[in-house]
Amino acid sequence: NYYAVIMAGGIGSRFWPVSTTQFPKQFHDMLGTGQSLLQKTFSRLQKIVPSENIQVLTNERYLDLCLEQLPQITKEQVVLEPAMRNTAPCILLSALKIYKENPEALMLVAPSDHWIEDEGAFKNDVELCFKACAEKDLLMTLGIQPTFPNTGYGYIESDKETKEVIKPVKQFREKPDYETARHFIAEGNFLWNAGIFLWSVKSIVKAFQEHMPTMYSLFADGMETLNTSSEKGFINTQYANAENISIDYGIMEKANNVFVKKASFDWNDLGTWGALHDKLDKDSKNNATVRAVTHLKNAGENMIFTTSEKLVVIEGLSDFIVVDKENVLLIYPKGKEQNIKNLLMEISHTF
Ligand code: GDD
Ligand code: MG
Repeated sequence: NYYAVIMAGGIGSRFWPVSTTQFPKQFHDMLGTGQSLLQKTFSRLQKIVPSENIQVLTNERYLDLCLEQLPQITKEQVVLEPAMRNTAPCILLSALKIYKENPEALMLVAPSDHWIEDEGAFKNDVELCFKACAEKDLLMTLGIQPTFPNTGYGYIESDKETKEVIKPVKQFREKPDYETARHFIAEGNFLWNAGIFLWSVKSIVKAFQEHMPTMYSLFADGMETLNTSSEKGFINTQYANAENISIDYGIMEKANNVFVKKASFDWNDLGTWGALHDKLDKDSKNNATVRAVTHLKNAGENMIFTTSEKLVVIEGLSDFIVVDKENVLLIYPKGKEQNIKNLLMEISHTF
């Protein structure tokens, strides 16, 4: 009864120039391991869920990339969105598809672009949560011990009293402002939401009925088309009418049956070049390199990334992102990495 869906429709704009709308980061080999982030995610899930029960949710423009990178799956396993509407609509759509196939299914929702190295620990956590979701009507998430007031994450307040490893959530707050995040961290019982969700399809469908009835009806009205040849026609006419909202705001903040298991694996959402630098092996001066062959002098803390093997010579440069792609070269201070997504707009008229 195990099913999984991989969300692979994001753009990863802070990883420009490597990540672009045509070819977003989840389809790139960001770690230099020979596999894209999507391929790594798929192989991690395949060890828990039968591969025919894994769906990939993505924008229609990425169908070819998905099939090329995942020869193990069929075209029917790629659910194509004709419009970008964030994560709530695509999760509901896939939950209904799975529900129709198997109403007893347990469903794991995973981002396509995260770093998780300890696959054994990940598997144990998933199986433990699935067991709980099979027994009770729960919406589960995996929590990460926070290290700083990151305003780009969801925060989970777990119940202090509970001794169990699976704890009831008192409040789920998506992307709080800095002051609130600081306050949450000082409290001690807040975790970051890893963006990995687990539930029975019954529970998540019920949650949409309760908390997002309009979106629920929009898709449930086409229930008879799902998993048939008329599905595509239905999605193409109705999908764009769905509200543009994430599952975090749409469901997790509202539901009162949210539970959390603190992740027993090391996690990173690889959101920026700096996060990638953190996770890679580094030389004695803390330079991290992907694919490049380097000759460095008086250079430290740099993130050096080339899309093909290339000799990179640097002297007297520290704490920079150096990214070389066929037609673009980026040399940018690591401390300003959050600004990279805005760069795109600044230069769009020249490039
Ligand atoms: N199919 C599809 N369609 N996938 C999408 C879409 C879409 O329209 N939009 C985003 N995704 C995918 C992204 O590719 C990513 O894998 C995942 O869904 C999450 O989207 P993000 O845009 O990366 O979300 P976020 O980082 O702002 O926040 C989420 O993740 C954080 C942890 O990384 C939230 O769940 C936070 O609460 C969480 O802390
Ligand atoms: Mg993200």
